[in-house]
Amino acid sequence: MVYETLLVEQRGAVTLITLNRPQALNALNSQVLAELIAALEAYDADESQGCAVLTGSEKAFAAGADIKEMASKGFADMYGGNFFAGYDRVTATRKPVIAAVSGYALGGGCELAMMCDFILASDTAKFGQPEIKLAVSPGMGGSQRLARAVGKAKAMEMCLTGRMMDADEAERAGLVSRILPAAELVDEAVKTAALIAGMAPLAIKANKEMVNAAYETTLAQGVQFERRLFHALFGTADQKEGMAAFVEKRPGNWTGK
Ligand code: HXC
Repeated sequence: MVYETLLVEQRGAVTLITLNRPQALNALNSQVLAELIAALEAYDADESQGCAVLTGSEKAFAAGADIKEMASKGFADMYGGNFFAGYDRVTATRKPVIAAVSGYALGGGCELAMMCDFILASDTAKFGQPEIKLAVSPGMGGSQRLARAVGKAKAMEMCLTGRMMDADEAERAGLVSRILPAAELVDEAVKTAALIAGMAPLAIKANKEMVNAAYETTLAQGVQFERRLFHALFGTADQKEGMAAFVEKRPGNWTGK
């Protein structure tokens, strides 16, 4: 597929997806969403690929949903057309996606980063949910994912004031897993993705699925879900290989079976 708003490249077993609408600071319009879904579905289906990195430019990961596209829409367009529901297909990706965020991640940009499995931020990153300044609200899960990531106090303050969080605050609050110098962000994210892609494929999916279950279940149900998936992994050839490789002091050689 030819993409107009994304750059997609494979670096070994890592798919690097770069949002590429520089004239609009990577604002997320319908075309970006359609292309992003296509790129993620192609990545998920490609057995040679084990982890993806989603990034933007140094100035902006994404400055939000495209305000110019939304400005004239009414309730019938939004509700009737289930606007933004396509983003559920982003979170349905079964393999991991790392967000590598430099510069602005605002509104839908912050929400898209939070849809990824974890966020690596550059020291220039700025996160915010400024929708209230437009007399609207987050609409791609931001109020829910931000509250779960940083707690009610910061999430509520950010949604009600539109205040941005810098990278240090975002790391302290648990929104991002690590901060990196801007110039190294993408390479470091690809290195982290390559490390993940080198693990056994079924174990990657199972680990992602069980951590995500922590946000959907009670503790007892989540622990039970984890245990059942853990048991299931003992039905895989890669579990036999992984444990034999440890005992024989050699790297595992995965088959994905
Ligand atoms: C459409 C956008 C945009 C956006 C920036 N641009 N953000 N276009 N949608 N979300 C465009 C500008 O209009 C401008 O185009 C160009 O990108 C460069 O932006 P500038 O504003 O000139 O850059 P700068 O002065 O550096 O300011 C950067 C900025 C600012 C602070 C990030 O652009 C900004 O505040 N953007 C909006 C952020 C925002 O409100 N995001 C939330 C959107 S709503 P031209 O053609 O003029 O050069 C959302 C939630 C959706 O995401 C869910 C509920 C509806």
